[in-house]
Amino acid sequence: MSYNRVMKGPKPRILIADSDQKSVNLLDLILKQEGFETFVCNDGNKAWECFERYEPAIIIVDWVLPEISGVDLCRKLRSDPRGRHIYIMFLTARGLRENIIAGINSGADDYMVKPFYAEELKARVKSGVRMVTLQRQLLERNMMLEEFVYTVTHDLRTPLIAMEMTAKQASEGIYGELPNSYRKILDTTRRSLKDLLGMVDNLLSVARYESGKVATTSSDKTSLVRLCRECMTELNPIYARKELRVNLNSNVPEIDLAINRQDLKRIILNLLDNAIKFTPAKGEIRISVELAASKVIVQIQDSGQGIKKEEAKLLFERFARAKSTRHAPGTGLGLSLIHI
Ligand SMILES: Nc1ncnc2c1ncn2[C@@H]1O[C@H](COP(=O)(O)OP(=O)(O)OP(=O)(O)O)[C@@H](O)[C@H]1O
Ligand SMILES: [Mg+2]
Repeated sequence: MSYNRVMKGPKPRILIADSDQKSVNLLDLILKQEGFETFVCNDGNKAWECFERYEPAIIIVDWVLPEISGVDLCRKLRSDPRGRHIYIMFLTARGLRENIIAGINSGADDYMVKPFYAEELKARVKSGVRMVTLQRQLLERNMMLEEFVYTVTHDLRTPLIAMEMTAKQASEGIYGELPNSYRKILDTTRRSLKDLLGMVDNLLSVARYESGKVATTSSDKTSLVRLCRECMTELNPIYARKELRVNLNSNVPEIDLAINRQDLKRIILNLLDNAIKFTPAKGEIRISVELAASKVIVQIQDSGQGIKKEEAKLLFERFARAKSTRHAPGTGLGLSLIHI
């Protein structure tokens, strides 16, 4: 959304919010002469309305504004995703150092004190245009790059599935009897292909989340305990190989709940996959589904090294991985996908 806002019009649109009509007229004249499309208003509420309606890329705002002050308007703009990429410049008679600091701290990119010189204003607005244009190019390139990554990832899925199925059939002897040594090689190949498919699915889920096309409700009916068991069965070949003990405890009756089955399954699978990956061989993983204060809490604990408190929050960012686990395979996407 913010991307479209920056892209509007051949030259960025400028909104002028100033309670003094003379200042408004002067600014409007100077900027129009420079070829900008301008919108003007005299109070904070109107400024917000104009921001929503005209989607300016640059806002020049006075400190003292009726209804919403310049500083509050600036904060409001920055807390809205649509206002994150606009260039905000204060133009005010308040020239004390503490005002400048407060203005910039409220989210402004630039601060100019009245009375102003037209040439200085033009120079600063041009610098704002440079920033906005660079941001536009960055967003554009980022989108192209993401699209490329997701297209390639998506196209990888089908051949990977086909290869995995062929390896499975070959290992089951469908194409003729196999010596045991060959079957072992095929099984290892299948595991690698499944890992690759897991990575591809994670990347595709990221794309789905970014596009905002995520269903948050579902008409599926599933028991949480059954879902956990299903995930355990799916990952059994991996934890059995490491001789890990995986136990499931629950004090919740197996009632079918209206939950988003696909999303919840991905969350449990990702957490369980991490537990398996980061727990040394012969360790233990405990899954519990418990009812507490009318909430059902699903916990997955492992006997591995755990996560440092100071790192915990950061690990939910995309591609973030703890330093101590860099040796293990993974992309750092799993946890970023389990925020709903
Ligand atoms: N059970 C765990 N024990 C120790 N560290 C963990 C555990 N779960 C997650 N982490 C840490 O959090 C990081 C991020 O986890 P995340 O699931 O996002 O990525 P990943 O497992 O490395 O890769 P991916 O899930 O994309 O295959 C991990 O790399 C690891 O450093
Ligand atoms: Mg993971």
